[in-house]
Amino acid sequence: MSSVLQQDPMKPSDEPRPADAFGEADRAAVYRAIETRRDVRDEFLPRPVPDEVLRRLLSAAHHAPSVGLMQPWNFILVRSPQTKALVHDAFARCNAEAAGMFEGERGALYRRLKLEGILKAPLNICVTCDRARGGPVVLGRTHQRDTDLYSAVCAVQNLWLAARAEGIGIGWVSIFDPDDLRPILGVPQEAVIVAYLCVGYVDRLFDRPELEARRWGQRLDLASLVFDDHWGQPSAVLGGASSDV
Ligand SMILES: Cc1cc2nc3c(=O)[nH]c(=O)nc-3n(C[C@H](O)[C@H](O)[C@H](O)COP(=O)(O)O)c2cc1C
Repeated sequence: MSSVLQQDPMKPSDEPRPADAFGEADRAAVYRAIETRRDVRDEFLPRPVPDEVLRRLLSAAHHAPSVGLMQPWNFILVRSPQTKALVHDAFARCNAEAAGMFEGERGALYRRLKLEGILKAPLNICVTCDRARGGPVVLGRTHQRDTDLYSAVCAVQNLWLAARAEGIGIGWVSIFDPDDLRPILGVPQEAVIVAYLCVGYVDRLFDRPELEARRWGQRLDLASLVFDDHWGQPSAVLGGASSDV
């Protein structure tokens, strides 16, 4: 019998590890990955992502938090040019429809934006959420059914940040009808397509969101988004009026 089975199941098999803050360099690296991560559309290089690196990225995704440890994700690695071409067609149909929803100058700007790197990126990854995984009752999900989807999104963000540290760019493409993608990728009905990601090495990155650089939008002021104790009460932490005043 293995030593794991002999242990008291009420006791964790590992002692908790120290939870010290990271050293300065490690801390800086984490914030650097977060702040310099970009959504990439056109800067992909053809250089393939080695399997060893890809395994690290997927493992980072798989270490994401998930409701009730449900781990609802699957990752479809798409490299076939034929499959990518079908996915690109599905994008192009929806993108034409989306472009029609913006009028005048805004519509003209929309049409100039590049909003995907499906064919240019050497690798695409479709991240799905299997809503049936873990059975009908999952700890933590009984009153918030969509927490499985939130978990899958956490996996995407882990992947995105790990990729940044590897010098690999990721672009999230959501301009699809998921029902167009489903048959192309063979995704079963119980799984939701959460993200379609274009993945590849990049040699340069925008230093701010590309949509900001191209004057589509801009980052909101953080202070306007943080409240103390109650919705609408500006936070003293971000320089708003203190609730003590
Ligand atoms: C859920 C989600 C869907 C997105 N879909 C698209 C998309 O279809 N096409 C695109 O060009 N960018 C897409 N993006 C990228 C955003 O436009 C981008 O994250 C945002 O402009 C901020 O830029 P940054 O990621 O470089 O900081 C998506 C991002 C998220 C989180």
